[in-house]
Order: sequence, then structure tokens, then C-alpha cells
Amino acid sequence: MEEGKDPATSTVVSRAHQSRALPQRLMHLLALFLFLCFTISVFSIFMIRKTGVVTTVTSAIPILQPCTEQQPNNNLDHWITPPSKLMHKMSDNELFWRASFVPLLKKYPFPRVPKIAFMFLTKGPLPLAPLWERFFKGHKSLYSIYIHSLPSYEPRYPSTSVFYDRQIPSQIAEWGRMTMCDAERRLLANALLDISNEYFVLVSESCIPLYNFTVTYRYISSSKYSFMGAFDDPGPFGRGRYNPEMLPEVNISQWRKGSQWFEVNRNLASIIISDVTYYPKFLEFCRPACYVDEHYFPTLLTIQAPNQLANRSLTWVDWSRGGPHPATFGANDITEVFMQKLHEGRECLYNDEPTMVCYLFARKFAPSTLQRLLLFAQEFLGY
Ligand SMILES: *[C@@H]1O[C@H](CO)[C@@H](O)[C@H](O)[C@H]1NC(C)=O
Ligand SMILES: *[C@@H]1O[C@H](CO)[C@@H](O)[C@H](O)[C@H]1NC(C)=O
Ligand SMILES: *[C@@H]1O[C@H](CO)[C@@H](O)[C@H](O)[C@H]1NC(C)=O
Repeated sequence: MEEGKDPATSTVVSRAHQSRALPQRLMHLLALFLFLCFTISVFSIFMIRKTGVVTTVTSAIPILQPCTEQQPNNNLDHWITPPSKLMHKMSDNELFWRASFVPLLKKYPFPRVPKIAFMFLTKGPLPLAPLWERFFKGHKSLYSIYIHSLPSYEPRYPSTSVFYDRQIPSQIAEWGRMTMCDAERRLLANALLDISNEYFVLVSESCIPLYNFTVTYRYISSSKYSFMGAFDDPGPFGRGRYNPEMLPEVNISQWRKGSQWFEVNRNLASIIISDVTYYPKFLEFCRPACYVDEHYFPTLLTIQAPNQLANRSLTWVDWSRGGPHPATFGANDITEVFMQKLHEGRECLYNDEPTMVCYLFARKFAPSTLQRLLLFAQEFLGY
């Protein structure tokens, strides 16, 4: 306000004027600069909208924001490199959509070693982890691991473990409910994001492998069929659970039952995660007593891809003790005789030929069995 009004005052005052005037002049310049920037931006946006031509000013903008796009996306690697972190912020809808991308050309234009995705559907910890670690040892390029557990569970695997950082975003899954199928679809969808995964095996924390990795890999990768238990049970726990409201999508002769422990190839995994036709029918008309997790996948695949199914599971469970639940083995059950029997007395079809190797996995094994299983694994299971 006094500025320039009294030039006759002392030099001290005028110096004070100067030092106050300098920032003010700077402010003016800055304001002018900001105004210019704003005008140019508005003009550029206007021009792009109107003409589609990117002027030099706008094409210079990415140079000013180097952090947003650091790696070049212009080669194939971008499409075939698996996500570096399994944890992501996608919703199920977003995940399933992303995972449903399927190439139309079946021949891969790069060397691809098909992997088995081992998908662990668990409540939390994996008590038999040391056994599985031994099973996986030395086969790093042929498998990948995914773990779905209760969302509240915080894993503590050492960074040297094959289970380290293999958790996927999870939600609560209840036996017999659609949330169980959702968890399995979530595992499949996350595993589909890695294009090298070709086979998808669902296992639980109480499962053990019955053969070494080499045998397991060859059995699965050389099979003409995927292993989904699917049978037509005429009784009350089979057809008795069918609801005619599912017509016309599902009729009673298509209704199947099977255990949820499956092995499917990439093609069937894609069918499962992208199904929007049968899912709502099962969600609405397979009520709690129907146990949707025993019927949805077997029925869906029997309708969509019957010729790709072996109609049997690779996972052995012991129903011989009777009751609604299969037997759980404890430490005292794990004897040499028991281990011997795990491979014996079976017969089934493999690639349409009879075989005595019918199961690659078995359940249910309590945490207490770990030490004795580790003791016998080399001799009886081959790993
Ligand atoms: C069920 O549907 C299939 C396929 O549409 C059909 O071939 C079959 O005849 C139907 N069965 C019954 C019992 O309606
Ligand atoms: C599995 O069952 C379907 C029908 O439910 C049948 O078409 C298919 O041939 C069966 N698979 C084998 C290997 O027998
Ligand atoms: C895996 O098991 C098979 C059959 O039991 C055996 O012949 C083979 O040597 C084992 N492979 C390894 C790497 O231990």
C-alpha cells in the first residue's frame, strides 16, 4: 500500500520495499505461468477432442509422469508373464472376467512347459506342509501353488517354503453351500492367470500325495481325461436331491454327484469359472440339504464336456467306517501294513485301459500323522 508513494524516504525503507516487492513479483510470474499452463491444457484437450491430433504439448505430458508406466508393454512377455504377486484387489467379478480370457489359437508361439496348479482349500494352517515340501522338492518348473484359507488366517511360512506368499484373496467357505464352490472357482480363476498352468488339482490340508512328483505329473499330463468324480446315484442322496425347478437347463438324467476333490485341465477350468447359465440355477434351487458342492461341478461338466471326463476322482477317502463323514486317520493308524495297503487292491480305467493305479492322493490325515508319514514316505510313497 505504501509502495512507490514515498520515494523520498531513507534507503533502509526502500530496501525493505525491494525485498517485499521481489516475492510479490515472483508470485505474479508464478500466477502467470500457472495460467499459461492451464490455458494450454484446456486448449490441448479441446484440440484432441475436436481433431484427434495430439499436439507436442500433450505428447510431452507422459515425459512429465515417468512413474505411471515404467516397463515397456510392447512385447509378448507382458501377456505371458504370471502376476508377480498373488494378492490383488480385484473383486470376484473382475477376477472371473479377467481369468476367462482364452486364446483362440491353440498353439503357443513360445516354449511352454505345462504346470500343475496345486490348489489348497484350507481353513488355515497346512499341518502336513513338510510332507508336501518333500514331494515338491526338485520340480520347481512343473508346479505352482495356490492357497485359499479363512480370510482371518495369517500364514507364517518361511521365505524358503514352497507355500510362502502363495495365499490368494479368500472369503469364508461353508461345507455344502455355494460359498464352497465360490472358493474353488476363486482358486481356479487365480491359477488361470498364470498361462503356464495346464492342470488344476484341488486338495485340502488333510490330503497326502500317494506317489512321487514324477509319477504324479506323468499320470495327470498323459491322461486323455480330467478327473472329476461324477456318477448318477438313483438314491435319495443323488437323484433325490434334484429339483425340477432347474429345468430346462438341467434335467434329471444330467444330474450328477461326486466328491469335490478334482483335477481338471485348463479348458474345463475355464468352463467352470465362466459359467453363468447353471450357476444361478444351482444357487437358487440346490438348497442346503442338496449339498451343492457335491453336484454343481460334476453336473455342469457332464452337460458341457462329458467326453473329457474320467468320471472318477484321483483322491481316495475311506468311507468304510460308515457315518456321514469319511475316516480321519491318526498317528496310530500309520503302520507299515497301512502304508502298503494305500497302493493295493484297486482297479479302474486309465485312458480306457485297466490299471491298478487309481488314486494319486488320499485323505483324511490328522496333523498327528506327520512324523510317521515322513518316516514312511520314502519307502512306501517314493518321495
Ligand atoms: C435331458 O436333456 C438332454 C439334453 O438336452 C436330452 O437329450 C434328454 O433326452 C433329456 N432327458 C430327459 C429325461 O428329459
Ligand atoms: C463319463 O460320463 C459321461 C456321461 O455322464 C460319458 O459321456 C463319458 O463317456 C464318461 N467318461 C468315460 C471315460 O467313460
Ligand atoms: C518315483 O517313483 C517311481 C515309482 O515308484 C520310481 O521308479 C522313481 O525312481 C521315483 N522317482 C524319483 C525321482 O524318486
